[in-house]
Amino acid sequence: MIKQSMQDAINQQIVREMYSSNLYLAMSAYFAKINLNGFANWMRIQAEEEMLHALKFFDYVIDRGGEVNIGQIASPKHDWNGPLEAFEDALKHEQLVTEWINGLAELAVQEKDFASSSMLNWFIDEQVEEEATTGEIVDRLKLVGDSKSGLFMIDSELKQRKKAPVAPAK
Ligand code: FEO
Repeated sequence: MIKQSMQDAINQQIVREMYSSNLYLAMSAYFAKINLNGFANWMRIQAEEEMLHALKFFDYVIDRGGEVNIGQIASPKHDWNGPLEAFEDALKHEQLVTEWINGLAELAVQEKDFASSSMLNWFIDEQVEEEATTGEIVDRLKLVGDSKSGLFMIDSELKQRKKAPVAPAK
């Protein structure tokens, strides 16, 4: 049985992952509006991945005999001043998510909750990848600067990103 403190913290993280999903969906809509459909595709898939993260925590609480409580999800920002600003926001957000995951990992150690530590190791590794991927796009956007052809080249690459596999229902 999961301890109340860990359950509360994971329930809070479920909401944060759902917020992340909505934030990236809002970014996807923004990119679609300015006709950068590769960027829109990348963000839409990112939004789906965040929902899978929420579901991973959701399933974990249930598997441990806990209770899921979905709290209120704040409305994300809807407009950005260009792709660089949007991706810089995404990177800042991922850095924040890493802090939240680290906080959860710290709590699991304090509570001697080894099952939660093991589950959270997946998220610790995932955050390394999330920050690296988003950071790489920020760097490339800085590199192309005002070049329209550079921007369209990145856009066509981001169009190649494939949909994440759907989590099986329990
Ligand atoms: Fe669920 Fe992008 O971290």
